[in-house]
Amino acid sequence: MNKAIEVALFLHLLGVAVWIGGMIFAHFCLRPAIADLSPQLRLPLWESVFARFFNWVAASVLVILLTGGFLLTQFGGTHAALPLHAMTGLGIVMMLIFGHIRFGVFPKIRRAVQSQNWPDGARAVGTIRRLVLVNIVLGVVTVGAAVLSRGF
Ligand code: HEM
Repeated sequence: MNKAIEVALFLHLLGVAVWIGGMIFAHFCLRPAIADLSPQLRLPLWESVFARFFNWVAASVLVILLTGGFLLTQFGGTHAALPLHAMTGLGIVMMLIFGHIRFGVFPKIRRAVQSQNWPDGARAVGTIRRLVLVNIVLGVVTVGAAVLSRGF
């Protein structure tokens, strides 16, 4: 394996670790730990956590896209193994879902916190919770597709 492929794979996997690891932490650790807080405390906390985490995800998405695109050209491009195309497709769906979370739903939490509209804020956090769960499942399936591509 040449050096450029090794470096790209290293960065690709780092991006994947930050994104999936962050989602697992938020969904399975932070969410249940703060579930009993009042909305007045919980929703501003989510806003501040998401604002930071989504910057990390945006950087990861950029790295995953650039390195994934490069790796794809090195692994056959359009003739690459089927699981690599599955990875590309699933990865793009995950990125679109993230885009919807970041630019469609997250601003609703911001607005709700600013206007102290707790029911609207709680609804938006609930929407993000469901979409993040979808992305965790897709992420795990995508890692499975990546591993499968080794056998092709
Ligand atoms: C969206 C665009 C993406 C493209 C074009 C892409 C492409 C690639 C390519 C060509 C490889 C090298 C395969 C190999 O080493 O045999 C790779 C490795 C890998 N990718 Fe992606 N990928 C993308 C997104 C993702 C996402 C979203 C995830 C996880 C959620 C992911 C997880 C992995 C893993 C775990 C490997 C290592 C596989 C291995 O070395 O066995 N990729 N990717």
